[in-house]
Amino acid sequence: MDFRIFDTAEEIARVCADYYSALLQKKPDAVLGFATGASPIPTYRELIRRNHSGALSFRNVTTFNLDEYCELPREDKNSYYTFMHENLFSQIDIREENVHLLNGNAADLNAEAAAYEQAIGTAGGIDLQLLGIGTNGHIGFNEPADHFTNKTFVVELAKSTVTSNKIYFENGAMPTHAITMGIGTIFAARQIILIATGSKKAKAIGMTVNGDITPRCPASVLQFHPNTVLLLDKEAAAEL
Ligand code: GLP
Repeated sequence: MDFRIFDTAEEIARVCADYYSALLQKKPDAVLGFATGASPIPTYRELIRRNHSGALSFRNVTTFNLDEYCELPREDKNSYYTFMHENLFSQIDIREENVHLLNGNAADLNAEAAAYEQAIGTAGGIDLQLLGIGTNGHIGFNEPADHFTNKTFVVELAKSTVTSNKIYFENGAMPTHAITMGIGTIFAARQIILIATGSKKAKAIGMTVNGDITPRCPASVLQFHPNTVLLLDKEAAAEL
């Protein structure tokens, strides 16, 4: 696992977008794993800018998002479906039929999870997975636990995740469960980029890079991944 430290989130965004440019030049029909949260937003802006300038095309890519809340209408402003369409998909030349997000309202969530795994496999696996990180070291919604979960699954959100994310919900009422790619799904990506900015992420990044590999800090598993880079600002890298 490599890490690179930058002064600003904008620099991280440019460097991150360079990885996309390099991949899509080699493989215009790459399979991209996307993430939500504040961390990837500057990168999404940069990808949009490059798409509009003609430097980058998403015409032939297929995408899979990491996770989605359960029991939140798809149209809710806080759904990850809305987030991705507002912050990226509606602004680039991607084909809607190539966009995949988990349906957190599926009648049978286990079947939804299995179908998602199958769709990723049929697409040929994920070439580049983008990640943020929770303050507790979660990736996607793989919360600290006694064991790693391999495949896409339904998870109860950790208290610290509810504390971090409830600010986005009116009256602080937010879903208690989510459906997320498992650690195995994420780990199978051929390349992984994790973005972390700000001092709130310093502890999680310290544990991820230098701590034991343990499901108590799910991101620590990335130490084993052959092609992962962490793009960090100085605040997030403070404990390295
Ligand atoms: C959420 C998402 C994660 C994300 C994390 C950090 O819980 N499920 O995929 O990485 O939040 O978000 P932020 O980048 O806003 O700090």
